Parts: sequence; structure tokens; C-alpha cells
Amino acid sequence: MNALKQRIGRGYARFATNVAVRSPRLWPLVRPLVRKQFDLLAPVWDSMRSPDAFSPLAAALGTVEGPVEAALDVGTGTGAAALEIAERFPAASVVGVDIAREMVERAKQKASGRANLSFEVGDASALRYDEASFDLVTAANMIPFFDELARVVRPGGTLVAAFSLGPETPIYVPSKRMRKELGARGFTQFAEIDAGRGTALVARKR
Ligand SMILES: C[S@@+](CC[C@H](N)C(=O)[O-])C[C@H]1O[C@@H](n2cnc3c(N)ncnc32)[C@H](O)[C@@H]1O
Repeated sequence: MNALKQRIGRGYARFATNVAVRSPRLWPLVRPLVRKQFDLLAPVWDSMRSPDAFSPLAAALGTVEGPVEAALDVGTGTGAAALEIAERFPAASVVGVDIAREMVERAKQKASGRANLSFEVGDASALRYDEASFDLVTAANMIPFFDELARVVRPGGTLVAAFSLGPETPIYVPSKRMRKELGARGFTQFAEIDAGRGTALVARKR
């Protein structure tokens, strides 16, 4: 993929993130192009990730207090974060969800042979899971749909939002905004983590 196309793609990802965070009801307007963009990126996605892309996520997961029996990774892409969770919490049942079918197909290849890891197509703005279904929810380089994140994390459970390049990440929401939105939805005990070139926010639900 040439540099100009990559720049346009990053710009659109940032635009769509800002739209969805400021006005979640407008998400359906930007969703088709986001889905298309990531379907097209799926074949090369893993080759585009730097070795430290998941350092903030890994560092944040290291702070999570168990038990973790059920975990969800939203916007899982090719499934790297979900795989990291499944390895770190072998007793947990882990599901990764993404709107881009091509991403999910590649993630499924990573899950083969692992009984505790599965992937499915789904929209993080309207998840099919019951409320309080998960002990741990992660969102790596992913648009946060705050109402749904708050709905599916159980009381006492943990949310981790990680951004591989901190504020330089195309899909990025500043920590101050994250804390404000999550705080309004019952999350407390925030911790901010710097690792590699990125950042992560760990939030515990009351
Ligand atoms: C920047 S990629 C990150 C992928 C992966 N988490 C990683 O860090 O490698 C963002 C991913 O979120 C997915 N995505 C965007 N909006 C979504 C939504 N509303 N529901 C589910 N997945 C979504 C995209 O299809 C894409 O795979």
C-alpha cells in the first residue's frame, strides 16, 4: 500500500473516531467506510504492526486483578490482543469481535487449536452479549463505544484501552476524555500506563 493511501486511511480512521466519540448516533454514517478500510487492510495488517505495538496492552494486562473467567476484545482486528489475553489468563474464555469480516477470518487462524479463544463478526456499538458478561474487556487501537463498554463489563471488572502510539495512534482518544466518559458510567480507579511508544488506560468498574 502506498504512503498516500496510508495517510488518507489514517486520517479517515481519526475522523471516524472523533465522530463516533462525539456523536455515537452518527456512527452508522461512517461505519461502512471503516469496515471497508479494515477489510482491505486485513491481508497486510500483521505486517504493519511494529514489535512493540502491544507493549501498552501487555503492561496494562499485567496490572489486572483476577479472577478473569470471561474476556472480550473489541475491535480485535487479526486477534493479537485476544491471543495475548488467552495466553495470560489460560482459564478464561476469550472472544474477539470485529466489524471487518476479513480481519475476523485471519484472527480465527490464530485461534485454531485453542479451546478458550474464539472470534466473531460484530459491532462494538451494539454487542450481542448480556450486561455484566465480562470480567475483562480490552480495546486496542479501537474506537470506544462507552455505553456498550460499560454495559458488558461486570461490576468489579476491568476495562483496558490501549493505544500503540499514544496520541499519534490514528484511532486515539485522550485519557482525560476516556476518564470523563467512563467515570460517568460507573468506572473508578483509573491507572495510566506508558509502555513502548504507547499508552494504556486501566479502569475498574464499581
Ligand atoms: C486500528 S484496528 C486495531 C486492530 C487490533 N485491535 C490491533 O490493535 O491490531 C481497529 C479495528 O477495529 C475494528 N472496528 C472499528 N469499529 C468497530 C466496531 N464498531 N465494532 C467492531 N470492530 C470495529 C476495525 O475493523 C479494525 O479491525
